[in-house]
Amino acid sequence: MLLEKYRHMSLPQARYAEFVLDRDKCNGCGRCVKACPIQLLELYGKKSRPNQRYDHFRCITCQNCAASCPQNAITIKGDYRVDKGFWKNAHLFKGPKTMPNPLGRNGQTTYADQEPELTETEKVIYQRRSVRLYKKKKVPRDMIERVIEAGRFAPSAGNNQPWKFIAIDNRDVISALNEKCKASLYKVSALTLPKPWINKKTPGDKEAKLALWQEALLPLLTKIKTGDTEPRARGGINAASSDPNYDIFFGAPAVILLLADKRGIGSVELDTGIAGQTMVLAAHSLGLGTCWVSLAKAIGFDVKLKKKLGIEEPFKIISSLSIGYPQGQVDNPVAREQPRIHWVDSI
Ligand SMILES: Cc1cc2nc3c(=O)[nH]c(=O)nc-3n(C[C@H](O)[C@H](O)[C@H](O)COP(=O)(O)O)c2cc1C
Ligand code: SF4
Ligand code: SF4
Repeated sequence: MLLEKYRHMSLPQARYAEFVLDRDKCNGCGRCVKACPIQLLELYGKKSRPNQRYDHFRCITCQNCAASCPQNAITIKGDYRVDKGFWKNAHLFKGPKTMPNPLGRNGQTTYADQEPELTETEKVIYQRRSVRLYKKKKVPRDMIERVIEAGRFAPSAGNNQPWKFIAIDNRDVISALNEKCKASLYKVSALTLPKPWINKKTPGDKEAKLALWQEALLPLLTKIKTGDTEPRARGGINAASSDPNYDIFFGAPAVILLLADKRGIGSVELDTGIAGQTMVLAAHSLGLGTCWVSLAKAIGFDVKLKKKLGIEEPFKIISSLSIGYPQGQVDNPVAREQPRIHWVDSI
């Protein structure tokens, strides 16, 4: 019993979502191929389909492909669900995922109907999307600095402002960063997944098991770094790092690394995240597209790289933002799960 609990913590038995295409609706535009953050789709015979690298454990169920499709041709059927053990989540899905509904008019109006009644800030919040398709055009440095300035005025515990930003707009440097991050991520991936899944190019042994040493190690790692060992994250990291063509920054002309001073008050990660999202919203309002890229946290594993980038103690990397001018229209919002609000009137 105890052993079974421990096992579920290392790699739970999960039900995964399924990519379903309505071939009649698909017009072969290829937007979904570019929108998939894990790059699991391709065009074949002018229709979208999962590519050779697609597998159940690699799809993170993010719904980006469905949201990007102008034809509504894609359904991500089901959810990533775990029924028991540490990673249990099946109870969270209380109803269908829904689009923004700030005015609370469920079933009566669409988001587009409500938009004219929203404030400019609300519109920025709901229209922002993670952008993974950029024009080559360089972003002027004063624009990048304008975006960072918005982060400087974000709130932080005790106004301690633990953040520091490294801005990079040299494509060669960004490409080198991508390769080095992927090399580190690949090593992490090898520690956290069954061996037959690691460098798999085609769907393989779904029943593959972790090695005994992994079963012993992973629950401990999960206790210390829960978010980083989340099973879908492991699949995504594996897919990205084993694909020679994958670019964690999606060809963006600029990248901002978000660092935090470990000696700050309270949670420096939270403060830096708030600064980052303030920058994301400011960027959107300026016509720029951004994507949070936490895969860049892998910089933290590479001592030489950190030195070259000037990341020294007591700073650590929290995440990064890719930034550039979006190519084409910014896609519809990605539907979200039902709101988890619990009103308490007395205690
Ligand atoms: C902290 C954080 C880290 C993220 N890291 C990545 C990443 O490494 N790669 C990526 O493609 N998207 C990344 N994302 C973007 C999410 O996939 C995206 O926000 C989510 O799918 C919802 O889509 P939306 O931002 O378009 O609404 C990250 C988002 C956050 C907030
Ligand atoms: S749900 Fe996300 S990861 Fe899965 S195929 Fe669609 S875009 Fe890719
Ligand atoms: S975005 Fe939609 S229409 Fe375009 S290729 Fe993908 S599935 Fe087909």
